[in-house]
Amino acid sequence: MNLEKQLRAELARIRDQGLYRRTVPVRHEGGARIRVGERSFLNLASNDYLGLARDPDLLAAFYRQHSCARPGDLGPGSTASRLMTGNHGLYQRLEEGLAGMYGRERALVFNSGYHCNIGILPALAGRRDLILADKLCHASLIDGMRLSRARVIRYPHQDCDRLEALLREHRPRHRQVFLVTESIFSMDGDLADLDRLVRLKRQWQAVLYVDEAHAVGTRGDRGLGLAEERGVVADIDLLVGTFGKAWGGQGAWLLCAETVADYLVNTARSLIFTTALPPVTLAWLCFLLPRIPRLVRQRNHLRDLADRLRRELAGHGLTTCGKSNIMPVMVGDAARAVATAEDLRRHGYWVNAVRPPTVPAGTARLRISLTADMEWPLLAPLPGLIADALKTSR
Ligand SMILES: Cc1ncc(COP(=O)(O)O)c(C=O)c1O
Repeated sequence: MNLEKQLRAELARIRDQGLYRRTVPVRHEGGARIRVGERSFLNLASNDYLGLARDPDLLAAFYRQHSCARPGDLGPGSTASRLMTGNHGLYQRLEEGLAGMYGRERALVFNSGYHCNIGILPALAGRRDLILADKLCHASLIDGMRLSRARVIRYPHQDCDRLEALLREHRPRHRQVFLVTESIFSMDGDLADLDRLVRLKRQWQAVLYVDEAHAVGTRGDRGLGLAEERGVVADIDLLVGTFGKAWGGQGAWLLCAETVADYLVNTARSLIFTTALPPVTLAWLCFLLPRIPRLVRQRNHLRDLADRLRRELAGHGLTTCGKSNIMPVMVGDAARAVATAEDLRRHGYWVNAVRPPTVPAGTARLRISLTADMEWPLLAPLPGLIADALKTSR
């Protein structure tokens, strides 16, 4: 069959299931507002959790600080990979700063969380190893597992008893066992039981890999993530954080032992075979590094907003889950979730309907993510609007 004909048939099937997606041009207006087409919306789908990416004062301070830089020093392109000539001196400053902030031996910066997660496991986990991963781990982690040669078993979401049973059964027959989880789950907003995972990794001499993409910046006294909040930073062998969400930048980092970092520099394909981050991006991240720990007011405000909205949603009979600023409102049917999101857009709220394959079949939802640059009066009408929209789409 002709390729395009085949793909048209596939797309028709995707449309029929209410799963069709497309990209739309978006303009960020600041203050959690976006413009799509002619209309302005409150952006409830942003990962800029601390509101830093569009903060006019912060951006002005950044550009002021670098106003004397020669244009060539902070360009938009790094011209080569890190192992060739793209390793701008700011990488060292950033990595040493991160390692010092977390009190860990080494930090290694990758181009994105996706690059981190598709690079680390394939480099470290081989045929004689086993990966035990939470069923709801992000697609980038799943892709990393697929690219590794290790055996992979995914345990039911947050089921540490099942994980322990798997360790008991399989640990003796494997060289290394990697326990892989997110700390705040991206689609459910719930928190991994890091204390129990640390106990399990100790008991079974496993390697603990935690992706803190949705927790860095927003959790912990200094915004280091859920591991800081739980006091287990030093116990996580492979701790991943991303700059693309609460840090309002681009890129990601791994905190690990010196030997692991050295080994990855030599073997992680997603670090080696890609153009390094642009110097201007590195400069922004170095600028933010000392500031993130100080954003206590933003973290507290975000937590208060989330607690209040979760309470109000429940008060309107809506099913939510999680314990973070990421708040799914469960709908179930994909087409109904899309119709509800569209209805909310008519009221000026930009909410995404999250559907399979991003989440399991039958668990389509609205994913609300709150950011620290929002105020309660803007959110107050939301629970009532969602409840009404769901009633009419029944
Ligand atoms: C848990 C998790 N890890 C990694 C990533 C990818 O990070 P990045 O956007 O920096 O590629 C995401 C992105 O949504 C994520 O949710």
